[in-house]
Amino acid sequence: MAAGPARAAEQDEDRDPGAESRLQAGFDATIGKDQRIEPRDWMPEGYRRTLVRQIAQHAHSEIIGMQPEGEWITRAPSLRRKAILFAKVQDEAGHGLYLYSAAETLGADRADLTERLISGRQKYSSIFNYPTPTFADVGVIGWFVDGAAICNQVPLCRSSYGPYARAMVRICKEESFHQRQGYELLLTMMRGTQAQRAMVQDAVDRWWWPSLMMFGPPDGDSPNSAASMAWKIKRHTNDELRQRFVDMTVPQAEKLGVTLPDPQLRWNEKRGRHDFGTPDWSELKRVIAGDGPCNDERVARRTAAHEDGAWVREAAAAHAAKQAARAQARTHEGAAA
Ligand SMILES: [Fe+2]
Ligand SMILES: [Fe+2]
Repeated sequence: MAAGPARAAEQDEDRDPGAESRLQAGFDATIGKDQRIEPRDWMPEGYRRTLVRQIAQHAHSEIIGMQPEGEWITRAPSLRRKAILFAKVQDEAGHGLYLYSAAETLGADRADLTERLISGRQKYSSIFNYPTPTFADVGVIGWFVDGAAICNQVPLCRSSYGPYARAMVRICKEESFHQRQGYELLLTMMRGTQAQRAMVQDAVDRWWWPSLMMFGPPDGDSPNSAASMAWKIKRHTNDELRQRFVDMTVPQAEKLGVTLPDPQLRWNEKRGRHDFGTPDWSELKRVIAGDGPCNDERVARRTAAHEDGAWVREAAAAHAAKQAARAQARTHEGAAA
C-alpha cells in the first residue's frame, strides 16, 4: 500500500536530514492556507492512513448500502418507483467506485480493500445492518439515511485532500436526489390509506435512532476526530453534524405528519436549536462489532458477489495483458522498420 510520491519523498529524507521538517512545514502551510493536498504532494503517514481508512469505509458503505433497498427493486409497487429506485441504487454503486479510485490515489489497492471488507477488517456504516421489511423503508432510508449522508458529506466537499473533495461534489448532488425521492415517496404514502400511514410511522420509529448513530459516537468518545479536524479532513464534529441533522429533519417530519420517536425532542429557544435524547450507544457498539440484525447477511452477499465476479476480473486482466503485448509488438515493429 505504498504511495509512490510519498515513498519518493521518504527516500529524499535519507539523503537530507532536514528534509522531513521542510516537507512537514510545506504540508502545514498548505493546510493552513486552506489549499488542497494532491496525490503528488508529500503528506504525513498518519494523514495518509487516516484518509485511506475513512475513504475505504465510505466506499464500502456505498457498496453495502445498495443491499437494503436493492431488495425492493423487484417488488417496487409501480414502474415509476422501480425506475427511481433502480437509478438510486445504481448511483450508490457509482459513489463506491469514485471513492475506491480516490483511495487508490493514496496508494491503496482496490482488491486489498475488498478483501478487508469481506474479512471484517474494515468497517462500513452501521446503518446498513438494519432490515427493510416494508416499502416505506425505501422512503425513510432516502429521507433519513441519505439526508444524514448529505449533512456528513457537504462539508467534505471542502476536505483538504483534493481527490476526496472533488468526488464529494458529484456524490452530494446525487445524494440530494436520493433524499428527495425518499421524502416524495413518503408524502405520497401519507396521502394514501391509514395502513400506508401506519407503515410510514413504523419505518420512522425503526430508523430514527440508527440514523442519529450514523454520525458516529459522541465527540468525547471519538478518538480520531481531533486529528481529522486539525488536518481539515473533517470540518465539523460528530455532535455538530448530528445536531444539524435533527434541526433539518424536525420541520420535515411536521410537514409529513409523522412523529419522531423521542419524547425529549423539543425546540430550545435559548440555544436556537432542538434538544434531543441520547441514542443507545451500546447498540451502536454492538452493531459495529458485527452483532446487528443483518451484518452476516450483508457480508455474505458481498462475498458471494465478489466470488461470482472472479471470471470478469480474470477476463479483464487477460484482455489488458493481450492489449499490452500487442502494443509492445507494434512498438518493436516500428523500431525495426
Ligand atoms: Fe451514496
Ligand atoms: Fe444515496
